[in-house]
Amino acid sequence: MPDPVKLTIDGRQVEAAKGDLVIDVAERAGSFIPRFCYHPRMESVGMCRMCIVDIDTGRGPALQPSCMITVSDGMVVTTDSPGTKKAQDGVLEFLLINHPLDCPVCDKGGECPLQDNAYAYGPGESRFVEEKRHYEKPIPVSDLVLLDRERCILCDRCTRFAKEVAGDPLIHFLNRGNQTEVNTFPDHPFASYFSGNTVQICPVGALTASAYRFKARPWDLEKTESTCTSCAVGCRVTVEASRNHVLRSQGVDVDPVNWGWLCDKGRFDFEAIESPARLVEPRVRKGDALVGTSWSQALGTSAERIRQASSVAFLGGARLTNEAAYAWAKLAKGVIGTDDVDAQLGDGLPVEVVHGLPAATIDEVCTPGGTIVVIAPDVKEELPVLFLRLRHAVVHDKARIVEISPTDTSLTALAAVSLRCRPGEAHEIVRALVAGGDHAAVLDGDLDAASALLAAGPVTAIVGRPSVAESPAAVVEAASLLLEAKADTRFLVTLRRANVRGALDMGLAPGVLPGRIGLDEGREWFQGNGWAKVPAGRGADATGILTAAAEGRLDVLVLLGCDPMTDFPDRDLASRAIAGARTVIAVDTFLNESSSRADVVLAAAGWGEVEGTTTNIEGRVSVLGQRVTAPGTARADWILAAELAVHLGADLGLESVADIWDEIERLSPTHGGLGASVLKSLVAADGVLVPASAEVLAAAEGTPVTIGGSVVAAGTSDATHATTEAEAGADSGDRTGSESEAGSEIDAGNETDAEPAGDFEGAGGAASPAGPRRPSPMGWVRPPAYAAPARDAYALRLVTARRLYDRGTLVANSPSLSGLAPGTRLTVAPLDIARLGVRDGGRVRVTSPRATLTVEVHADPAIPNGTALLHLNQPEGPDPAQLIDATRPVTEIRLETV
Ligand code: SF4
Ligand code: SF4
Ligand code: FES
Repeated sequence: MPDPVKLTIDGRQVEAAKGDLVIDVAERAGSFIPRFCYHPRMESVGMCRMCIVDIDTGRGPALQPSCMITVSDGMVVTTDSPGTKKAQDGVLEFLLINHPLDCPVCDKGGECPLQDNAYAYGPGESRFVEEKRHYEKPIPVSDLVLLDRERCILCDRCTRFAKEVAGDPLIHFLNRGNQTEVNTFPDHPFASYFSGNTVQICPVGALTASAYRFKARPWDLEKTESTCTSCAVGCRVTVEASRNHVLRSQGVDVDPVNWGWLCDKGRFDFEAIESPARLVEPRVRKGDALVGTSWSQALGTSAERIRQASSVAFLGGARLTNEAAYAWAKLAKGVIGTDDVDAQLGDGLPVEVVHGLPAATIDEVCTPGGTIVVIAPDVKEELPVLFLRLRHAVVHDKARIVEISPTDTSLTALAAVSLRCRPGEAHEIVRALVAGGDHAAVLDGDLDAASALLAAGPVTAIVGRPSVAESPAAVVEAASLLLEAKADTRFLVTLRRANVRGALDMGLAPGVLPGRIGLDEGREWFQGNGWAKVPAGRGADATGILTAAAEGRLDVLVLLGCDPMTDFPDRDLASRAIAGARTVIAVDTFLNESSSRADVVLAAAGWGEVEGTTTNIEGRVSVLGQRVTAPGTARADWILAAELAVHLGADLGLESVADIWDEIERLSPTHGGLGASVLKSLVAADGVLVPASAEVLAAAEGTPVTIGGSVVAAGTSDATHATTEAEAGADSGDRTGSESEAGSEIDAGNETDAEPAGDFEGAGGAASPAGPRRPSPMGWVRPPAYAAPARDAYALRLVTARRLYDRGTLVANSPSLSGLAPGTRLTVAPLDIARLGVRDGGRVRVTSPRATLTVEVHADPAIPNGTALLHLNQPEGPDPAQLIDATRPVTEIRLETV
């Protein structure tokens, strides 16, 4: 620690860093100071005065709010002086003048800092007997959050969160004095993707979640720590259940990823677990119907069809755990011998690019003062908590974003420079940026300012698919050009869907085997270590698989928790493929558009119902918690793979989740050394980046062990994370501090700087495989150069993006969220509207090489000339997937008035 500050807290000598707040240092030193308004992830405001303690800086002790005072040399802090006690009595007595004390019917009762602090620090009785305030209760402040105004203690946490963290300043203090209340302005609801966080951080029951209100008392809930798998950010959460029903999920504060925040989709889509639409048994097709059947018949039929097939392909896998993905990869590639396997649905980047680009963590992307090049989907819509991290980096840490995108996104307002390009031409802008190429590619924005930013600081890049109406080629070329020009650039690849990174790491992609290695590089190693076979050559990706099925060249298509008819960008191809495959076997938790057309449906257990691990966009492996049992006879995905193998006359040799992880650790070049004991160690509480650095593996030795990631069962408070204010409250005073402490023990910034732990020969001791040498993960190989397609002056280029809420399985089956999908409409530049001679809102005929639709067209100044925008998979409005031909580099559409 550089130049530590030395002070005395409650008679103990303490060292702290300059700038640390007294409230934090005291907590770390074992003196918990009660608080309401202070939150370690937001600016201090000193609103509540609950944290007043005696602080002596040399001029005698004085009562001061410890959340507003930074430590100084020689400071003497007393947290239990008579003066402090008197101040605490006074604050609590005054807060309770108006507080309704309706604890028996308040969701917060039992985990309420006001209850806890009144009990631990309050005067015991009140001198005030006057009538309390009464308001209409509860009133909705958003679709998901309810407000009981009389419970509010005006701590400013929700309002600060909305303004400071989310950037959605939609809840405010209204009125003055005794009439002060938190509320929204009329006709301006708290329409934020992050509104649920205010419920979690409200220190009383003023803000409650409509999905949880009156559902349980905290002492009824059993909690398990886990990871959200609703997108690929991988926020740490709790799964909280009572009597085998998941009732709540809350954010856990981990330093490298989510800082305790969640998006509302991740927080509330647990409701889908209990949807009546869940598959509870296997089904087989009888005529037009899918009817319930026994597991032996479903698996037997599946095995029979696969045995008779000359071509089998597997699509999907992002819903699976790492262990399940490995089991299915071993079945597909090691038993059946097909390489026609793809976990991405034509909406990601080639697996060699994902594995080969030098990787950046979220922390590295958010480096203070750094430059972040973003050529990616709208992160707020697709990876919402990554948006919060980027927003913090820009607003508080002087990071600068250079955005290259075909339309405005939620990052545009934060970007230092936002450059507009035509779909399919992002690379031309990067070429112009790094080498002074043709400026004509820039439709809007200051190229010189962007070049200066690139030259100025450390550069990281966020790359993904800004639009699925164009191929990934332009983004891949852009990344290649950036890497050629600045060899130290690191990349965060934004992939769609939960554990897609883990599925790719486990080999669910064409041309690769578990551990980010190519088929040829890994053949000898895997065949020497229990895999019966390894495919001879690279197979087809999702587009190739669907094309083969559509053309009648595929006997069996296995859908691993995916719905290509809804999710694949080219709906026509996906529909023809599902109809054209001779047999479709779906492994899923719900029937969707694709699986409802399957011949066999294998009912799978889902999130909260299975144990295992998941991997986020950074390549960070974290432990999932099982809290409830799956409905009916639904089974874990890995069990289905193992049993299908048995029906095929093979044996995967995988008997349990632990077994599978052992095999992954033994065989995968990227997972060597990351044994079960490391995963359960405190060092891994925030997840471990793979390949794990030698430092992380060494640090895991001998550290405390969490027990199944369970918050309750862990037994040692320092082995888990605090999730609610109550847990961080008076009776377990060190929990809030231990949140960030636990995170800081894994220095994410150092993880990738450190040398990976070698090739792991010998890692794991006796368990280490003998025979062929463990291969190394693949590195960067520049893909063939790409040239933008010629422009058609009469056509507009289509941009197709996603929204957070759509008609996907989780949202559609979560009652709180299902009504939130906004729909879509065709928007184009005002100039193009004028050129067409239609009025804003008039109808046009849209023609692409795939289809013709008649739709309303609207003007939007955020859309550049020559471009049109439609959102994918929305319940209302035209379906852009009907217009897209997945085999073309861009989707050009022509508009005609009707
Ligand atoms: Fe604080 Fe809750 Fe009131 Fe917001 S509603 S100011 S978080 S007490
Ligand atoms: Fe879950 Fe993604 Fe939202 Fe985090 S950002 S809570 S991982 S859906
Ligand atoms: Fe310090 Fe509120 S004034 S916690």
